[in-house]
Formats: sequence, C-alpha cells, structure tokens
Amino acid sequence: MLQPFFIVSVYMHKFQITISLFVLFILAGCANHKPARERLDFTASWKFILADSIDAHEASFIDSTWRTLNLPHDWSIEGEFSDKHPATVGGGALPGGAGWYRKSFVMPEGDRDKKIFIDFDGVYRNSEVWINGHLLGKRPNGYISFEYELTPYLHFGSEKNVVAVKVDNSQQPNSRWYSGSGIYRNVWLVKTGAIHVAQWGAVVTTENVSEASANVTVASTLRNTTGGSAVVILETELYDAAGKKVATARSEGPINGDTVTLKQTFTLENPVLWSIEKPHLYKAVSYVKHGGDVLDSYETVFGIRSFTFDSAKGFSLNGKAMKILGVCNHHDLGALGTAVNTRALERQLEILKGMGVNGIRTSHNPPAPELLDLCDRMGFIVMDEMFDMWKQKKSDYDYSQYWDEWHARDLNDFIRRDRNHPSVMIWSIGNEIPEQWDSAGAVIAKELAGIVRGLDKSRPITTGNNEPTPKNSIIASGAIDLIGYNYHHESFADFPKLFPGKRFIATETVSALETRGHYDMPSDSVRKWPIAWDKLFTEGNPDNTVSAYDNVHAPWGSTHEETWKVLKKYDFLSGMYIWTGFDYLGEPTPYVWPSRSSYFGIVDLAGFPKDVYYMYQSEWTTKPVLHVFPHWNWTSGQTVDVWAYYNQADEVELFLNGKSVGVRHKEGDDLHVIWRLTYEPGTLKAVSRKGGKDVLTKEIHTAGKPVRILLEPDRASLTADGKDLSFVTVKIVDEQGNIVPAADNTITFEVQGHGVLAAVDSGDPVSHESFRGDRHKALAGLVLAVVRTDAVGGEITLTARGEGLTPASVMLKAFKR
Ligand code: GAL
Repeated sequence: MLQPFFIVSVYMHKFQITISLFVLFILAGCANHKPARERLDFTASWKFILADSIDAHEASFIDSTWRTLNLPHDWSIEGEFSDKHPATVGGGALPGGAGWYRKSFVMPEGDRDKKIFIDFDGVYRNSEVWINGHLLGKRPNGYISFEYELTPYLHFGSEKNVVAVKVDNSQQPNSRWYSGSGIYRNVWLVKTGAIHVAQWGAVVTTENVSEASANVTVASTLRNTTGGSAVVILETELYDAAGKKVATARSEGPINGDTVTLKQTFTLENPVLWSIEKPHLYKAVSYVKHGGDVLDSYETVFGIRSFTFDSAKGFSLNGKAMKILGVCNHHDLGALGTAVNTRALERQLEILKGMGVNGIRTSHNPPAPELLDLCDRMGFIVMDEMFDMWKQKKSDYDYSQYWDEWHARDLNDFIRRDRNHPSVMIWSIGNEIPEQWDSAGAVIAKELAGIVRGLDKSRPITTGNNEPTPKNSIIASGAIDLIGYNYHHESFADFPKLFPGKRFIATETVSALETRGHYDMPSDSVRKWPIAWDKLFTEGNPDNTVSAYDNVHAPWGSTHEETWKVLKKYDFLSGMYIWTGFDYLGEPTPYVWPSRSSYFGIVDLAGFPKDVYYMYQSEWTTKPVLHVFPHWNWTSGQTVDVWAYYNQADEVELFLNGKSVGVRHKEGDDLHVIWRLTYEPGTLKAVSRKGGKDVLTKEIHTAGKPVRILLEPDRASLTADGKDLSFVTVKIVDEQGNIVPAADNTITFEVQGHGVLAAVDSGDPVSHESFRGDRHKALAGLVLAVVRTDAVGGEITLTARGEGLTPASVMLKAFKR
C-alpha cells in the first residue's frame, strides 16, 4: 500500500562518507518480516542462597539444596525489621548481606551461529556475573542496566550452561532510603545474528515538530562480529499506535570496522503528537539484512512532541503552556519491596493520575525500564535522575567510593538506555550534591553535562540544589540548563531577580508529613518536626503518628498548600516535583525507630490516599471534588475541626445531625474551608453548591462496633502469567457498612485456587509485622492484600477473617492471554 507521505532521505555517518552508496528506496509494499531478534524473559527458575562465605561461580558447583525462585527478587523485604540492621532505620531497618543466584539452561544447537547476550535491568548491588565459570564482569551501581555477551563461553546442544551471579549488599549503610537487595529487576536473554543493532543502538530523534509535520531520524549503530567487511541493508519501518505502517526507509552500505551508524530520516505529515492527555506512541522497527538473511530486528518505541522551558513562560508541551505537576518517588513498591512488578508500578501511576499528577521524578537513581515505558504510555513528564551523590559521600559505603572508576560509564549507559523515551524531558545529574558548596561542584558538573550533551542535546539538564543561589558552584558553572530548587518556596518569587534570564524547575518541594487517618487538633497551627535532629524523640506524638491535616512538615519544607499557592501564581515557575507521591521504606522523618518507613507520601505505603490527595485533585483535575474529613468518631463535647476540599462550587454547607453549622467558601488563595465544631455523634453532611444548585453531597457517620469485612479488588480479571496482581482493599466496617476509623483488627488471609498471597500491608509506618505473612493489623480500618496469579490460570478465591468479624471472600479470575 502506497503511503502518501513519508520519506525522506538517508544520511551517512561521517566516517562512511567516502563510500558512496546509500541508496534510498521508497517502499511501496508491506514486506513480510519475521522478527530475527529474540528477547526472552530469563527470570524463571533461578537458584538462590543468602550466604556470603561461599564461592559458587564454577559451573560444577552443586546448588540443588538452594531455594528455587523466579526473578525479580528482593531478599531484604523477606527479612525482619530491626533497628540493629546496618542499613539503619533510614535504610528501612531491613537486612542486607550477600547472596548468590544461579540458573542452568541449554542453548539449542540451532543457535550456534547466533550472538547471545544476557541483559540485567538492575542488580542491587556489586554484582559479579559468571558464565560456565568465566567471569563476565562486575557492576557496583545497583540501579544501572547492563549487558554481557555470552557467546564465546556457551555450550550448544544438550550440555548445560550455568550463569552465576554474586550480589553483595553487605557494606551498609550505603543508601539514604530502602534499596532492597538482589536481582530485583528483570533479566533477558537476547539472541541476534552476527551483524546486529548494538546495545541501545537505535536513537530516535524528532525535529521541527508541529501538528502539520515532523522530522524523525532513526540513527542505528550496527555491530559487525563477522571479522570481515560486509554489505548490509537496513530497512526501517515506522508504525503508528494503531499498528499502521506510516513510513519506511532502506539503506545499503558496507560495514568495514566493528560498528557503523546509519541515519534514516523521515518526514511524517500530520503526526499524532504525544501529550499528557493523549500519549500517542509510534514504533520504529529496523531489519538488518545481509546476503538474503535477516540477521537482526530491533524495535524502538518513540513519541513525537516538542517542549520548551522558558524563563518567562515556564513549561510548554507542543506549544501549549502548562505546569509540571509532578511527584518524586523512590523505587520500592511498598510491601512488595523493590522487586519490580509492572502492574504494581502501573497502579501507582493510576493512583497518581487520579490526583492530577503529570510528572514523575525518579529520585534519586535510574528507574526500572518498565516505569519509563508506563510513563510513555500513560502520559507523565519524567525527570530522569542519575545520582544522589558524586565524589563526596552521604552515607558510609555509598556509590562515592566507586565514583572515580564508574561514574562516566554509568552516566553514559543511563542516557543511552533512556534517551528514546518521550516521557523523559529532564535529565537530572544529581540531587543535593555536597560539592555544590565547593569548587569541585563546577568541575564535575561540567564533566557530567558534557557526557549528557554528547549523547542527547534534546533535553535540558538540571540538579536538585539545596542552595539555589548564584554562589552555588554547580549553578555558577553554567553547566546546567534548568536551575533546580529543592524547597525554598518562599524565594520562588525572587527567581527572576536572582537568576535573570534563567529557567526554573522546583526539583523537590513540600516534605509535609502525615499518617493516614490520624488527626491532631487544632488543625490550623503548623508544626515543624523535627525542630532539630538532636530533638528526635523529644517531640512529635508518643505513638509516632503525624496529623493528616496538612499542618506538619519538615523544617526545610512546607505544607502542601503553601508551596502550591506560590507555584500556581507565577508563569515562569515551570513546575514542581513534590516530596513524595507515595510513602516509601526508610527515612521515617520526623521519627526514628520504631518507625521504619516515610510519612512524606500523599499516598501511604499500601497505596491508600491521605486526605491531602483530594486537595490536589480539587486543583489539578476537572473531576468534581468534595472531600470532607476527619472521621466522625470522637468524644462527646470535644472540639473537632472539619475540613473540606472542593472545586466547581461557590460554597459548601455543613450539617451536623440535620442542623446547619454554617456555609463556608474559599477566599483569596484558600485551598480548603474549615468548621470548628463541638462533637456529638451522628451524621455530618456536606453539600457543595454552585449558583444555588447542589453539586455534590458527602456524608460521614459515626461508626459503631466493627462487625464485618468488605473486600474490594482493584481488578478481578487478571492475566495468568505468574506476575499479574490484584490489590484488594480490606475494609473493616460496622453494621451499616461505615469504615470503623479506630479499627486495628488483625485480619488473616487465605488464597485458594490459581494464585498466591504476594504481600500484606496497612500503610502503618510503625508496624513491624512481616509483609510476607498471612495476616496484618489494620490501620484506621483498612488493610491491603496483594494477590498474584499463577501461570496456569483459573479461579482464585481470597478469604479474609478477623476475630469477632463476619469473614468475607472474593473471587478473582486469571486468564491466559
Ligand atoms: C531532601 C532529599 C530527599 C529526602 C527529603 C526528605 O532534602 O533530597 O532525598 O531526603 O529531603 O525531606
């Protein structure tokens, strides 16, 4: 089928310029290509042992007594919480150590002529990898993706091969947050022909982007392992999101050395632009052909969009001004630990999208590739971050000790891996880097920015700075494109004066603190906790709770409302990344032990939103919102503050037991309304109104005794792949179905059929119960049970029981798809 618009030109790499011969064809037909490259999920049936005193790298080592498991795997999350672990409470109060993983496999005789690679998306940390006793290499960085070639050491046919991986996370503390331990991301076995696209070897760039047309360039680096020169044909096809082929190009030329880079340029008419609301994705599929054979096929997903950061107008996407409404997240998935799971990541993003979030900062390390794939697909603006420290350490055994030897390589690999993602729009080369206060900051910033620009000139570079002043040596170096403020919301307005003509991003904001479902009165006085680090323990609540009225924050931060009020006021402020979207394991500021996870999240560790989630929803979405809190179970006669977040209405009227207690409306830059009431049990009813007409009504009832359990799965129809998850919210309710706010019952779980209980949690930062047990205590009436499918499929029944409560069951179904 002839395409009316496309191609194009073919461009030769500079060192090929003398050889004349790239020929351009406009293809008029659909060539029927079979993918030549295989990229196999290599996560099943590994052997594992947690032991640092053994040496298991030889193929002949007997590992039959070791545990068999599927990757991704995080052994730390299986351990017991204790303040004695060297990771410290800041690192999540869970064990580290060293462990071994081994996998036996056979390579079919038919693969003898292929090139075989093993790709690790991430191993925390200090991994060493052997194949059949040969050391392939080591990688200290726990977040970097890496590949080894296996070909020369493999046996083909029936003889078995053994890959052995040592993972050493025993030197601790090495992280300011929970890192997890092990092969916690996916592993792939890749098979290609002798001439193939190199690792991360296709680079897609877009230029002159408009709704009328866009130029797309695919630069493919081909690797020739034949030892001689060869003439290759590179055919690239572009597909839109519906799978329709929209352009093709064909280049032919010699590879004389090891590698050659071929550029193919396309002009697309009327491209569908990638945006937050409609994240349209294209795909480039390249075929490497030689002597009639297809030696490799390589797919790259990309998007077509333009964006700018402007010193006066802030951020624009596809020419439309908008603010980046982002959150920072750490990489753990709560009770699932750091073992990456696509559905768990997707759920986090769905919850954040529901609040109006449109940006993610991968604080403070390269993320799992699946996170970026999801951000591409779901429409988020990513600040992709590489380092939390450079040469100067932040914790005793952190990456600074490997800085000299590894930073250039790791940064290079990070940019090359992530530069095709349309969601990535900012590179961050560091967070709160200690060198910002001395001259080393300038030297290192220039070096790192040079590496980034050498690989990608299409995105601005930033750093999250503690001291956003012209004196800061990183800023003064001129190496960064966007000046990143961590906190300092009170000086946002002075930015144009301090940095005339410069561009702004609030790399990190807020650091407010909340425990879901806990409320301290009065609600309108702001607490800064801790006042000082040596005052930890001496302030705060004895039970390590923090009020959820958005009136407690770390001294360097603000309430959510304070920062948002400033940010929304000025166009030049391009956006922010709030600390944090989700609670995470470790860093339990303002407390230490027995707390073991953070209070910073807008959403708790189990994925249950805290009240302030709805403040953002009322401001950042077009959804009608009326959120009223707290619960209505207090002591008679007590003074209770009732807050409401609302939008799309002029006022809210509140009724207590049928009697109006007042109409309120937001004034000036208010983001909530408040009533101070004397408590009596019964019903609170709020009605929002616009132009005298009711918009929304909310009722909160005084709950009685807990009597039964309700189960609400987020998804009941699942994929039978041994990975898919259903997140089941467990509510403890009274006779009338009201959640009982004080309910802390222990709920036990049983799963029957084609699934297992993967994890349990309540979001309580002080709980020391295992996430892997079959029971968990509720926090404020809620528990979460995570059910994982098996690979067979069929019915799965989850049953929840609690003493004195009517049990509940829910049926899920997993299908082979
Ligand atoms: C910031 C830091 C984050 C986190 C946060 C807690 O200064 O960049 O990693 O520690 O403080 O408020």
